[in-house]
Amino acid sequence: MSGKKDKVMREMLFKRNEEWAERMLESDPEFFKRLHKQQSPEYLWIGCSDSRASANQIFNLDPGEIFVHRNIANVVVHTDLNCLSVIQFAVEILKVKHIIVCGHYGCGGVKAAMENHEHGLIDNWLRHIQDVYRTHKHELERVEVPNDRFRLLCEKNVIEQVMNVCHTTIVQKTWRENRELSIHGWIYSIKNGILKDLNACASNPEQLAEVYDRHGVN
Ligand code: CO
Repeated sequence: MSGKKDKVMREMLFKRNEEWAERMLESDPEFFKRLHKQQSPEYLWIGCSDSRASANQIFNLDPGEIFVHRNIANVVVHTDLNCLSVIQFAVEILKVKHIIVCGHYGCGGVKAAMENHEHGLIDNWLRHIQDVYRTHKHELERVEVPNDRFRLLCEKNVIEQVMNVCHTTIVQKTWRENRELSIHGWIYSIKNGILKDLNACASNPEQLAEVYDRHGVN
């Protein structure tokens, strides 16, 4: 990027930031003072990095209302210290009672995992989605229309990540101690902006077993 273009970009973004802060103050003069003191989000959102799937915008929430972790294709890996630390902080310090795993249709990460092209480093990350595909291979391959199969894999990926969240030591401990914590599996359509509940909510080990029965391998 040339120096001039860089400057234009920076000025545009800083100007937009200033305008936004002004607008927020106009509608609520105490807003930033309150925010500065503490955050008290009620939800943790685990979503895709896709620029069209911002949690705050989808729910029409202000800063401070939702704690967010995003990565490509909203994957929860058992050894991902970044994601696990976010979950622990959200549950144990912020005391959120809801973790929402939210995928989206048309997810580029899920699509790339279905194809046989090389993308470099990211292919290692996408292996996790290929594992989801392999787990649900029979059900997926019964779907003949490629786009419908792609949509189903986007959904299955959410379900598997809900299960992965439920199996973290953090969630298991919270449930063992009978503290309230629900994990939800939702999916978002970029085409119309509407969320869909995938009926994969678990608030205890029994409900998790039911999620397995409903959505597991068949
Ligand atoms: Co995506």
